[in-house]
Amino acid sequence: MTNIPKNIEPIIRLNDVSIGYKHDKPLVQIPNLEIFPGEIVAIAGPSGVGKSTLLKTIAGLISPISGSIEVCGKTIPDSPKRGKLGYVPQSLGLVRHASVLHNVMLGANAGHNTPIPFIGVCLPSSFAKKKAIQAINSMGLEDKISEPIRRLSGGQQRRVATARTLAQCPELIMADEFLSELDEKTVGMVLKEVTKYVKSSNSALLVVEHDITRAKMMADRLLVIDDGRANPFITEPTAMEVKL
Ligand SMILES: Nc1ncnc2c1ncn2[C@@H]1O[C@H](COP(=O)(O)OP(=O)(O)OP(=O)(O)O)[C@@H](O)[C@H]1O
Ligand SMILES: [Mg+2]
Repeated sequence: MTNIPKNIEPIIRLNDVSIGYKHDKPLVQIPNLEIFPGEIVAIAGPSGVGKSTLLKTIAGLISPISGSIEVCGKTIPDSPKRGKLGYVPQSLGLVRHASVLHNVMLGANAGHNTPIPFIGVCLPSSFAKKKAIQAINSMGLEDKISEPIRRLSGGQQRRVATARTLAQCPELIMADEFLSELDEKTVGMVLKEVTKYVKSSNSALLVVEHDITRAKMMADRLLVIDDGRANPFITEPTAMEVKL
């Protein structure tokens, strides 16, 4: 695990949380979880165990059955300021008839076209566009910038969703299986860019990754949800250092 100074506030804090869709039948119970700036945490576990549900709950899209969840200093159902939270859902949530640039601009605008605190003005939209183009290039999609999403492969669409979140410059990225459908070389490239962003901006990445080898390779900490246990949240203290 990364060494976190004692006075640093976590970006995510969960206390005695249980999640799921039925109050009498929680899917997962999480006693405590804190994720700090600069950390990469991977959630692993078998299909159907509740990984995406956990991410959606932390994103504020589903209410927890019980317990408290704090994200970027706000306690759910209060939500963090627009743009602070970047979410790459398993279903991607792209606008299929619109271009790559249009989709990535949605992230860039969410992150950069909000008024600057105390000053009250927005950054020029050219800044958001520059961020969008940078993110598209970093995902190796420069030759697809004007292409509509529906004409891209599954792996290319996944990279567009990642670019949309990077262009937003969020404080927290939550990504659900964002490496699936990618070959090993492209996985390396995407991981390198996302890790560079997280470490240089001191943001955090909470990622769902069913492939345990990949999860260990990318993460500082690994959270394994195992439905065979009554209290199925296990923290493995050290994941392997990622070599990029
Ligand atoms: N909207 C919903 N309403 C009721 N039950 C749901 C809903 N969404 C998911 N579930 C159920 O909750 C359980 C956990 O689903 P979830 O999508 O979180 O699993 P997962 O661990 O992400 O699986 P996978 O690795 O296949 O993506 C599954 O049994 C699923 O059928
Ligand atoms: Mg899932």
